[in-house]
Amino acid sequence: MSDALLAEFMARCRERCEAGLQAHGGLGDQPELARGLADFEPAVRYALETSGKCIRPCLLYAAARAAGAGPELDSALDNPACALELIHTYSLIHDDLPAMDDDDLRRGRPTLHKAFDEATAILVGDGLQARAFELLVDAHALSAEQKVSMIKALAQAAGLGGMVGGQFVDIASTGRPLQLEELQGMHALKTGALIRAALSLGAIAASASASQRAALERYGEHIGLAFQVVDDILDVEGSTATLGKTGGKDAAANKTTYVSLLGLAGARESAEHLLDGALEALEGFGDSADMLRGLARIVVDRRV
Ligand code: IPE
Ligand code: IPE
Ligand code: MG
Ligand code: MG
Ligand code: MG
Repeated sequence: MSDALLAEFMARCRERCEAGLQAHGGLGDQPELARGLADFEPAVRYALETSGKCIRPCLLYAAARAAGAGPELDSALDNPACALELIHTYSLIHDDLPAMDDDDLRRGRPTLHKAFDEATAILVGDGLQARAFELLVDAHALSAEQKVSMIKALAQAAGLGGMVGGQFVDIASTGRPLQLEELQGMHALKTGALIRAALSLGAIAASASASQRAALERYGEHIGLAFQVVDDILDVEGSTATLGKTGGKDAAANKTTYVSLLGLAGARESAEHLLDGALEALEGFGDSADMLRGLARIVVDRRV
């Protein structure tokens, strides 16, 4: 697949997801004022008005294509795509809190707790998480069985044994050097689990066979880990201006990363190795998985 076609596909996925977040990210249909929520609404809007790369939604739409779905399924994928992005956005809001990474900048703007206050940031994050599951329940053109499977996959990926568990390990181990195997386990949870879930949700929506779903999830595990390895690299190589978040934070906070353990060249090598594993997982798929193949390369080569 050409770079231009892939860029067009990604732009379309991002547009769909951003439109969904605007449509469904609000407080609901009762007047905010009547419910005492008038002061909460701007913080919720702030959290949703600047989206990031939307890589997880792109992976979801591409996974459905790989499993044989055509563009006509895209509208059924919109709510699941937004649900993923809502969980991801909530995870970033909480990740930036003073009790966690204590960051001032996110997506080129002050973090939510800086623009508002800590309690508001915690509550917006909590609210986005709940809204994600509401959107899965409300997804149209999917069966009740598909929705339940998606809810389970997303809850597992987001929860105690997924992203939240990984974030716990990250915080608990700050200042204590991790072995490579422990670091890999932490990255697989804090970032890999949600990325893997993007593949699961796409597979479920497209009614993929069990073996197709397993292969897509294997791709997701590799690319999810690669995503965080590259995040570690960019924390060292990227600038605050291009990243839209403060560079050099990991070393300053004394975190073990792929770069601190393996050096920049070793971390790059690991990312390339993970890319190979991701592509290998797609071997049973034909051209329908070309979008996923292209996205894997983008995850590893990205500069932001
Ligand atoms: C950053 O995620 C945090 C990690 C899980 C590594 P992204 O790099 O996907 O952030 P946005 O959504 O593009 O801002
Ligand atoms: C974040 O990892 C993982 C999440 C679950 C949000 P980082 O703490 O490295 O993400 P950035 O670098 O702040 O975006
Ligand atoms: Mg963190
Ligand atoms: Mg952080
Ligand atoms: Mg980081």
